[in-house]
Amino acid sequence: MEKILDLISKEITDAFIACGYDAKYGKVTISNRPDLCEYQCNGSMAAAKEYKKAPFMIADEIVEKLKDNPVFEQIESVKPGFINIKLSNEFLGRYISDMNNDARFGVKEPEKVKTIVIDYGGPNVAKPLHVGHLRSAVIGESVKRICRFAGHKVIGDVHLGDWGLQMGLIITELKYRKPELVYFDDTYTGEYPKEAPFTISELEEIYPAASAKSKVDEAFKEEAKEATHLLQQGNRGYTALWNHILNVSVSDLRKNYDNLNVEFDLWKKESDAQPYVPDMVEYFKKNNYAYISEGALVVDVKEDTDTKEIPPCIVLKSDGSSLYQTTDLATIVERMKLFNPDHIIYLADKRQEMHFVQVFRCAKKTGLVYDDTKLTFIGFGTMNGKDGKPFKTREGGVMRLEYLIKEINDAVYEKIMQNREMSEEEARQIAKTVGLSALKYGDLSNQAAKDYIFDTDRFTSFEGNTGPYILYTIVRIKSILTKYAELGNDISDAHVIRTPETESEKSLMLQLSKFNDVIEQAYEETAPHKICQFIYDLSNAFNHFYHETKIIAETDTDKQKGYIALISFTKDILEKCIDLLGFSAPERM
Ligand code: ARG
Repeated sequence: MEKILDLISKEITDAFIACGYDAKYGKVTISNRPDLCEYQCNGSMAAAKEYKKAPFMIADEIVEKLKDNPVFEQIESVKPGFINIKLSNEFLGRYISDMNNDARFGVKEPEKVKTIVIDYGGPNVAKPLHVGHLRSAVIGESVKRICRFAGHKVIGDVHLGDWGLQMGLIITELKYRKPELVYFDDTYTGEYPKEAPFTISELEEIYPAASAKSKVDEAFKEEAKEATHLLQQGNRGYTALWNHILNVSVSDLRKNYDNLNVEFDLWKKESDAQPYVPDMVEYFKKNNYAYISEGALVVDVKEDTDTKEIPPCIVLKSDGSSLYQTTDLATIVERMKLFNPDHIIYLADKRQEMHFVQVFRCAKKTGLVYDDTKLTFIGFGTMNGKDGKPFKTREGGVMRLEYLIKEINDAVYEKIMQNREMSEEEARQIAKTVGLSALKYGDLSNQAAKDYIFDTDRFTSFEGNTGPYILYTIVRIKSILTKYAELGNDISDAHVIRTPETESEKSLMLQLSKFNDVIEQAYEETAPHKICQFIYDLSNAFNHFYHETKIIAETDTDKQKGYIALISFTKDILEKCIDLLGFSAPERM
């Protein structure tokens, strides 16, 4: 379906043309004075300059042309030359009814279906999943769902970090702790054990210990670098150990992502790009893209228009090991080969911006991608604690995701139990669903690039701009529908949305009518927060309607059916939106 704003703009534009003015002046926007009108057109102000007339004279002409147009209930010219618009109830009612009958709620299919790879999550194996990776997973999952709903072919890839120095650190630390392990015996040629020589908890303790040691012990760090290099060169024992590390970590990661309702289509990793490295390096050298600088192989990526220094992209370290930029470049090669994407979207901390500028420029310059392959980096801000500093545990350590989820679920559980009769089990189950909405909405309602403060009390509140408030609204609608059915009515019979009659009913419809526009913007700007803003406004409009309207007590059954159809549709839109944000609503709360 056309967006309602476009339909209105078309009427106004036609009037501008009919009166002899340029079409460009007919642009309509949502009113910034909702107390006066619903939409407005300010084109006469600009047209006045070109046509050397007073703006209000132009506005008067346009309004005169449109005064009998059935799209408008009221269209008036207001000095100095604004056109204020109110839609007719019939037109709006029909638009909402058409949306309700459309399988995609009025969102058009794309002109061209694009293949989009979304690289998100990005955890590093063997390190516990911490809050830093939360944002990547939460925002990425939503961006993936939005792109998919917009009609594109979308592939979500977790892109595990498994090829950097952390692997060498763990291997080296293990070697100190358990030198007798067969993986460290260079003369061993037999099969390696199937069982990992550590548990996930041990693994999670080993990494921080090794990392701390490497900061004070230069020799240890050198050993770890050497181990990383050997691993990348395919050392048998290290490869077997690395496999164990990977397996133990991945099963733990899957559990964590399941709890977050985050699903990846691909579980690829940095190391999968390694086979592409030698040919890529050869190609860079042969075409004179790469040269040796201080021992490392680099590609210049600076441009004349740069205002700050952009250092070269490092393709290989002096010892021939792969770095973060190496694996990202080779992963681009792999993705082009496997999926030939039109667009690759990356989610990572915004402090990685320079890395992505270098990688993208290098990929474009060297032709790893086409000129029109879109590469986008979505850099997100930091999740801070109430003190405004990066979120930490009470003891000052890195907060593990599991604990954070528990903290928020417990808070919701308390609220649910306060004045409700419910079994402990049901309350726990609901708290999980509601807790996830609190966590995700708290994050997604901010622009990704901004830092935000993680505030359990505020995020779990059932009032205000929060996930639980949105769910509460959905649950309220569900309970009205249940009651309606319990009174012996057939819900499937109540599917025709009628012309609105009251102010609150019309406001609710005006809000609903924006859905396709919001989805388009959220997709084009990869901006889930636009959906949050929309559903917050929609929930408010619904609750206002609910307080003003007798639904269950309505005696005119046709009217009542119209209400039921309208609120079911509101529920459908709200549920579609929260699905795009990556959470769902319980039956009651
Ligand atoms: N593993 C990285 C980190 O923890 C994030 C990976 C982002 N994706 C990418 N292709 N570089 O910082």
